[in-house]
Amino acid sequence: MSKVEELVPAAPAQTQRTRVLVADDQADVREALRLLLKAEGYLAETVSNPAALLEALQSNEFDVVLMDLNYQRDTTSGQEGIDLLSQIRAMDSKLPVVVMTAWGSVELAVEAMRRGARDFLQKPWDNQRLLTILRTQVDLYRTIRRAERLEAENNLLRAHNRPVFIAESKAIQPLLTLMSRIGPSDANVLITGDHGTGKEVVAQTLHALSARASRPMVTVNTGGLPEGTFESELFGHVKGAFTDARADRVGRFELADHATLFLDEIANVPLKQQAKLLRVLETGEMERVGSSKTRKVNVRVLSATNADLKQESAEGRFRSDLLFRLNTVELHIPPLRERREDIPLLASHFLKMYAERYRKQVKGFETAAMQRMLDHPWPGNVRELDHSIERAVLMSTLSQIQVSDLGLESDKAGSAKIEEMSLEDVELLLIKKALARHSGNISHAAEALGLSRSALYRRMEKYGL
Ligand SMILES: Nc1ncnc2c1ncn2[C@@H]1O[C@H](COP(=O)(O)OP(=O)(O)OP(=O)(O)O)[C@@H](O)[C@H]1O
Ligand SMILES: [Mg+2]
Repeated sequence: MSKVEELVPAAPAQTQRTRVLVADDQADVREALRLLLKAEGYLAETVSNPAALLEALQSNEFDVVLMDLNYQRDTTSGQEGIDLLSQIRAMDSKLPVVVMTAWGSVELAVEAMRRGARDFLQKPWDNQRLLTILRTQVDLYRTIRRAERLEAENNLLRAHNRPVFIAESKAIQPLLTLMSRIGPSDANVLITGDHGTGKEVVAQTLHALSARASRPMVTVNTGGLPEGTFESELFGHVKGAFTDARADRVGRFELADHATLFLDEIANVPLKQQAKLLRVLETGEMERVGSSKTRKVNVRVLSATNADLKQESAEGRFRSDLLFRLNTVELHIPPLRERREDIPLLASHFLKMYAERYRKQVKGFETAAMQRMLDHPWPGNVRELDHSIERAVLMSTLSQIQVSDLGLESDKAGSAKIEEMSLEDVELLLIKKALARHSGNISHAAEALGLSRSALYRRMEKYGL
């Protein structure tokens, strides 16, 4: 042993060692291979017949199999070994198998390779050649397994970043059914629902269900584009098309080619621009601003609005032909107050997310807090629930969220006229509002209320906040 090798830790961790399964019906062959492999640092297990080999594969992990093709002494056809090879492939199609054949039976070796053996050795074998073959096969196998693991991890990461659409209520079942049916299609979908009901989450889910999912969904807030930038944003421009166009620009439609384009707040698109949208939706053709070259795009369009587009169209503010292109299918998301059974599931989802983010040991909701959430009208829908729970997690001092952590105005305080409230109720209301506005930051809330931090603390204690 050279000096360098002596410095290397003698026995690598058990899991790191290469495991070889040796199958041969001759005891002297098994023994010779066992000694050779052991000397090379391998962990070798030996078996004498096909049944034992399959059993060993069932109960242990191996990096490579080295097997003889003949087991019954009186036959040399190798058929038994070939059958065994197929059985091994069926159990694990990637595990490398190296076969040993009698000297001169090249045809059998070829047949074995055709059946999936990775390499072959002729008996009597050459030790160096045997070791080289094993090393090569094991390295290859490990590389494949590593790549597979990486890919699985990437898939998980991708799935992890994707928002999940959480829903179990009866009221939302028809929506779920429609989503699973049209998600995979190329149909244009118009998603409607009040503020914060989850229109964007639905769009992302539809995209994720489709064959276009390997590319990212491109989102445009069509309602929020400043005058004059609409066309350039959506269709791109060429250098010099207008004063500020210093370089070519790719528009969102081109970016979303072979993917999905999500047009948010679609009702806010001015009539003039609606005509431009209509053309690309009808023909799949568009030009960059300042260019006469027509480009073809293959884009699935999802759009969302909280307006009543039929009404808008009846009143002449939205082109009916555009509406017709956009709403091949229309998905309506009911407001949260019409599907209260979803509240516990959504609440737990947000609780877990924020407890992790803010490293808080909050595990659940006190019964009264859950009841309070079930009773709340949620005018801001799921987004409001999301924000309330983020705040509650920040505020919480116990392992369960309390009613006071939620910071939901009591319905009484919310609807009662201030003149009819007691001074204490008004004070409580103002403190809650200030805390909610400043996300539970006591210093900021105190400053906004014109109180010292300690004065605010005293009042919070008094009201059990
Ligand atoms: N079913 C759901 N499951 C999980 N999270 C949801 C669900 N619905 C909404 N959310 C969350 O609530 C918030 C609001 O959702 P989203 O932005 O999709 O609503 P929206 O309908 O597009 O609202 P707006 O009309 O204001 O644009 C987001 O943080 C989203 O992740
Ligand atoms: Mg939205």
